[in-house]
Amino acid sequence: MRTIPVPIPGAPYEVLVSPGLLDEVGSRLATLVQGRTAFVVTDKTVAALYLNRLTHSLENAGFRVCSHAVPPGEPSKSQAELFGLYERFLEAGVTRSDVVVALGGGVPGDLGGFAAATWMRGVPFVQVPTTLLAMVDSSVGGKTGIDLPGGKNLVGAFHQPLVVLTDPDTLKTLPDRVFADGMAEVVKHGAILDAELFGWCAAGGPAAGESTRDMEWAVARNVGIKAGVVVRDTRESGERMLLNFGHTVGHAVERVTGYLRYTHGEAVAIGMAVACRMGVRLGVTSGAVASLLPPLLAGLGLPFAAPELDANEVAAAVVSDKKNRSGKIHVILLQEIGRATIVPLDEAQAVHMVSEVWQDV
Ligand SMILES: NC(=O)c1ccc[n+]([C@@H]2O[C@H](COP(=O)([O-])OP(=O)(O)OC[C@H]3O[C@@H](n4cnc5c(N)ncnc54)[C@H](O)[C@@H]3O)[C@@H](O)[C@H]2O)c1
Ligand SMILES: [Zn+2]
Repeated sequence: MRTIPVPIPGAPYEVLVSPGLLDEVGSRLATLVQGRTAFVVTDKTVAALYLNRLTHSLENAGFRVCSHAVPPGEPSKSQAELFGLYERFLEAGVTRSDVVVALGGGVPGDLGGFAAATWMRGVPFVQVPTTLLAMVDSSVGGKTGIDLPGGKNLVGAFHQPLVVLTDPDTLKTLPDRVFADGMAEVVKHGAILDAELFGWCAAGGPAAGESTRDMEWAVARNVGIKAGVVVRDTRESGERMLLNFGHTVGHAVERVTGYLRYTHGEAVAIGMAVACRMGVRLGVTSGAVASLLPPLLAGLGLPFAAPELDANEVAAAVVSDKKNRSGKIHVILLQEIGRATIVPLDEAQAVHMVSEVWQDV
């Protein structure tokens, strides 16, 4: 068992990582939760795999369990699913002494978390992440929310969980492409803050067949990195921006391809490689560092370029991103492996840089 403290001021909690932890969720929550109702938010794929085990664990610890499984995938982070959940909470009589448990990837986590953040102005919430992305990224930091037709994650709240209970054994059923998607965030964490983790990725990540212990280490390491950044910068102003490495261009790639061709992690992988090429042009990243990314990403089943996309279209999408403040585009560049810096570019410069390096592979 690995225990990673997340000492957020006013709402500290722990992330526990251990194979088989799914069967201990009930006993772990019994002392943390006053009420006896546990409402599980999950998706239908994850429900078929893991809901029975979670339910038994909770019932054995004396909880009355209610659950709701949404269709798998991003479209479930919607107003309709959110209000459907409120109806179910009402039927189940969920109160502020009870607990909402999100079982699954970032979709049940963000949706269930936002429902918990807003139901009765906030009820206790617990994450049981089952995708690599959720384990290393979305379950840590307290961001919850849903999408609107006009954009992703536009409605949300910060709502920290009571505890995050991570069972890396659940990764064994993850489809390869979904696993690789999460590995992109692992590469990101290594690249910006942890050379040893980057080295683990360069060596191919988890060895086939012996993944569990390896993944316990890797997940804990990633949680430690993300927790460290989040705690030092709870409201996402300064250091937390480092976590956007690969994301400025990655989000643009997702947008110009209508969120269909590339997974988020694939788009971020392309974005990280582009950021390295930009770093070389700007004299921040050495050619030697930049050259490490493409083979590493390819080895993990991730792309490192998208030459089929129109460079100008991607560049335009970068500067029109809603998150860019005051006309400045903040790009995250690597100074070396494990050390990154935030560089503000003006719009024209950003457009020029992205177009310049796009085909440059
Ligand atoms: N809150 C945050 O800080 C934060 C950070 C990053 C991403 N996100 C959000 O996370 C979401 C993406 O997360 P995701 O990739 O986990 O998506 P997801 O929850 O849709 O999971 C991806 C797919 O994997 C399936 N799945 C989940 N666990 C499985 C398992 N153990 N075995 C087999 N299949 C399994 C799901 O059914 C789904 O089809 C996005 O909505 C994104 O906005 C949030
Ligand atoms: Zn990401």
